Amino acid sequence: MSLASMTAVMCSIIGYIGDKDVAQILIDGLERLEYRGYDSAGIAGLKGDSFTILKRLGRVKNLSDAVEQSMNFGNSGIGHTRWATHGGVSEKNAHPHVSFGGIFTLVHNGVVENYESIKTFLDERGYEFYSDTDTEVLVNLIEYHYRKEQDGGDKFLRSVQKALLHVRGTYGIAVLCKYNICEIVVARKSSPLLIGIGENEMFIASDACAIAAHTKNVVYLNDGELALLTKSDFSITTMKNEKIDAVRCKLDWRMEDVSLGEYEHFMLKEIYEQPLSLANAMRGRFSDDLSTAKFGGLQLSPRELRQIDRIVFCACGTAWHACLVAEYLIERYARIPVEVEYASEFRYRNAPLEKNTLVFIISQSGETLDSFAAMQEAKRKGYMTLAITNVIGSTIARESDGGIYQHSGPEIGVASTKAFTAQLCIVAMLALLLGRLRDMSFDEGTSFVQALVNLPQKISQVLDSGDRIRAIAEKYAHHEHMLFLGRQLMFPIALEGALKLKEISYIHSEGYPAAEMKHGPIALISDKCPCVFLATQSDILQKTISNIQEVRARGARVLVVSSEGNEIPRKCADDLIVIPDTHAALQPILTTIPLQLFAYYIAKARGCEIDKPRNLAKSVTVE
Ligand code: G6P
Repeated sequence: MSLASMTAVMCSIIGYIGDKDVAQILIDGLERLEYRGYDSAGIAGLKGDSFTILKRLGRVKNLSDAVEQSMNFGNSGIGHTRWATHGGVSEKNAHPHVSFGGIFTLVHNGVVENYESIKTFLDERGYEFYSDTDTEVLVNLIEYHYRKEQDGGDKFLRSVQKALLHVRGTYGIAVLCKYNICEIVVARKSSPLLIGIGENEMFIASDACAIAAHTKNVVYLNDGELALLTKSDFSITTMKNEKIDAVRCKLDWRMEDVSLGEYEHFMLKEIYEQPLSLANAMRGRFSDDLSTAKFGGLQLSPRELRQIDRIVFCACGTAWHACLVAEYLIERYARIPVEVEYASEFRYRNAPLEKNTLVFIISQSGETLDSFAAMQEAKRKGYMTLAITNVIGSTIARESDGGIYQHSGPEIGVASTKAFTAQLCIVAMLALLLGRLRDMSFDEGTSFVQALVNLPQKISQVLDSGDRIRAIAEKYAHHEHMLFLGRQLMFPIALEGALKLKEISYIHSEGYPAAEMKHGPIALISDKCPCVFLATQSDILQKTISNIQEVRARGARVLVVSSEGNEIPRKCADDLIVIPDTHAALQPILTTIPLQLFAYYIAKARGCEIDKPRNLAKSVTVE
């Protein structure tokens, strides 16, 4: 079989070894992980010396419906949800995969880049393959080494170590061996994996939310590490079998953080959590005189911060929009030149960076591969790299030279909401900190801080108008195209508003700088392409109103989001959402909230799967 359609995967992993029935634990974990990928799901359990394996296409629900009373998965097992990047979505390509001789089963998150040469090597030695996956090549390579190893000792672990020494690419894996019922072996390289330590039971997961209900005691594996788990113990080694001392951490998650509660969707829950998530992002981060911000994790003294000549921000997706806001704010308030790069471009662009350049990565998950690779590229060149991330212990958080945690709590909805506004809040505070180290006065600093302190309350006010925004959204739900337009700081928010809408409602939507619209996009304007104008900034209000009139004259329906105190002529807006006024630097945050609700209610009116939109994944751990 050709591997031309190799099915590299970007997915999630769960594992368990203990005394309980493994199937339920694996399926519960997979349900919590489903937001990471949901093309297919599968579990394998080991009982006696035989595997029981079940796989289904589509949602984890299909898998749990297929579990029958008569199936006995035993007390140790592994599970997987898959988000395919190449090749088909099929049951044969779903994980777990079993080796040709039936000795091993394995789940894998990542890409084996040299699968072709390994496959040829194994082909020549009589191995046969049933799927199109690189993962099946890996499980067979482990079996090949197992057959060659001397019996006794850690034969299982040794064969995984030997196999991985030949693998180029990325992986988080969990492996069962039918001759070692009391053990699971896991390993990682550029793909997250953690061990959860319970009472006479151990868990494995690619994301803490899968096991937070069972234990708060965890160990994050580092790149190049393997672990051998039994139900009561674990040991960590390198690929060359050197022993590693484990660093134990405590998860600070509560179960309500990963449960829907009274809400219909995680996205709505997370939108409504924003007064709290923003308060958490600010907690303990103001100076005693309330005139500036402070971040313990930056690892830079005021003197070092003053020496920065340039900042490069890198990210993907929504986090990239937060970088654009950072550019406007830091340049405006601290007068430090800022550049914003797509992480996927930066990592290969070999950009010339000046001395005294600071590289900042923004990533909610802290696991996005392109963002991580951009960070590695900057580190390789010797630049100081800092990160703004939400997930404590994530790869980017651990590998950066310092950084700022968002403290947003787990974000489960695939479309980022509360994590984005926390990023905006942190970059505003960063602009304040850097500004105060340069030209910003004490009075400007205190009014900035006061505005930040008042922000959660103002967000609650916007959220109180949820029903009104819903009614407006329903009027727009039948359209297939929409433009989001804003100037200056509202341009990145226009991009984010358009992204939220397209992600969850599949309406084609684009964001533009409002004045740029007449250089092309205006050709799209008609009564079939409504426009959302972000007119919250009083200093450029008249300019924005002129742009509104340009599209009104061409028959477009117009929704205006404006701030209290801004006069919007009646004839300018078919629909108007007015939000509280705030400090100019914080308008991006307040303006984002109605756009999140607008996208949410449109997607709901269209009957879309809001928390798990088609083709998307929460965290993209492949290129
Ligand atoms: C994926 C998600 C986006 C997210 C982006 C970056 O594409 O679907 O919502 O903005 O990754 O994720 P990160 O975790 O690095 O912020």
